[in-house]
Amino acid sequence: MPQIEVCVVGEINLDLILYGLPEPLVLDRELLASNLALTLGSSSAILAHNLSVLGTGVGFISKVGPDQLGNIALERLSAAGVDVTHVKHAAFGTATGLTVILPQPQHRYILTYPGTMFEMQYSDIDMEYLLSARHLHLSSFFLHKALRPSITDLFRQAKKAGLSTSLDTNDDPEDKWEADVLEVLKYVDVFLPNEAEARKITRTEDLSKAIDQLAALAKVVVVKRGSAPAICRSDQQEWNLAPPRVSPVDYVGAGDTFGAGFLHKYLQGARLEDCLAYANIAGAYSTTKEGGTEAFLDRAALTVFIQQHCSEDHG
Ligand SMILES: Nc1ncnc2c1ncn2[C@@H]1O[C@H](COP(=O)(O)OP(=O)(O)OP(=O)(O)O)[C@@H](O)[C@H]1O
Ligand SMILES: [Mg+2]
Repeated sequence: MPQIEVCVVGEINLDLILYGLPEPLVLDRELLASNLALTLGSSSAILAHNLSVLGTGVGFISKVGPDQLGNIALERLSAAGVDVTHVKHAAFGTATGLTVILPQPQHRYILTYPGTMFEMQYSDIDMEYLLSARHLHLSSFFLHKALRPSITDLFRQAKKAGLSTSLDTNDDPEDKWEADVLEVLKYVDVFLPNEAEARKITRTEDLSKAIDQLAALAKVVVVKRGSAPAICRSDQQEWNLAPPRVSPVDYVGAGDTFGAGFLHKYLQGARLEDCLAYANIAGAYSTTKEGGTEAFLDRAALTVFIQQHCSEDHG
């Protein structure tokens, strides 16, 4: 069995991003984009890809359909060094999912066909493989339709076996934010919501109060806030830190890459403020090229960016 440090359980699909469409999008007209990117998408796969590029050994548990989209996504993960030997292949039936993203000046449309990500279930997971890792990460809690009832148990087992754990819920497409996610948080070491998610999960408008509630459940709460300072809370300590300034191409997967940066340092036993600084650097860098992983294909440029900003942060 290949030696892995982090086991990511999650969804995998490609992102098709169409840039430069007119605004507003008018019905029944042919609307022209100025550019497109077909790139590795989905929160789990982006985090796994970029965490592996940063130098942490990653194994991925997921399910793909019998189609080219699934093959391309797996090839991209493999090329980054991620172990995909435990990804299940559906022999027929449901296709691999696809997300179409239409960036607009202030906001973006995100249209997802979930496909196999709705189907992965507990019996698809090789627990021996998962528990051979030091750390369990799960992204996109609300997209795992079949797996969701087993997620608390998955985290409980991981903690019992001595793994550390992390979770990024991402958005709830049903906008229900049901309380089962709070159960899971009792077994989460690093919780990585963005600001809107932190508020919705706790049903609290006040971000500080939302973090109080989340920090009573998870050990470390890290709130992503785009170009605004990210917040890290653990026990009574809190750090606020702005990301480096960049010229973003898009924000797709910035949060997932932030998570990859945080976990990379966390698993090295770094101080939480250093994990936060590194997460910000990774997240900001991911916005400088298309999608969530394109920036991480140029490892030399990534190293230069990290060195430049690490030395800025620490003198
Ligand atoms: N405009 C920006 N400039 C610099 N850094 C940014 C910018 N946007 C995002 N980041 C970095 O990426 C992190 C995550 O961003 P964001 O708040 O978009 O997360 P998210 O909503 O979870 O994203 P995702 O779309 O991946 O789910 C930020 O905390 C920051 O470190
Ligand atoms: Mg996110």
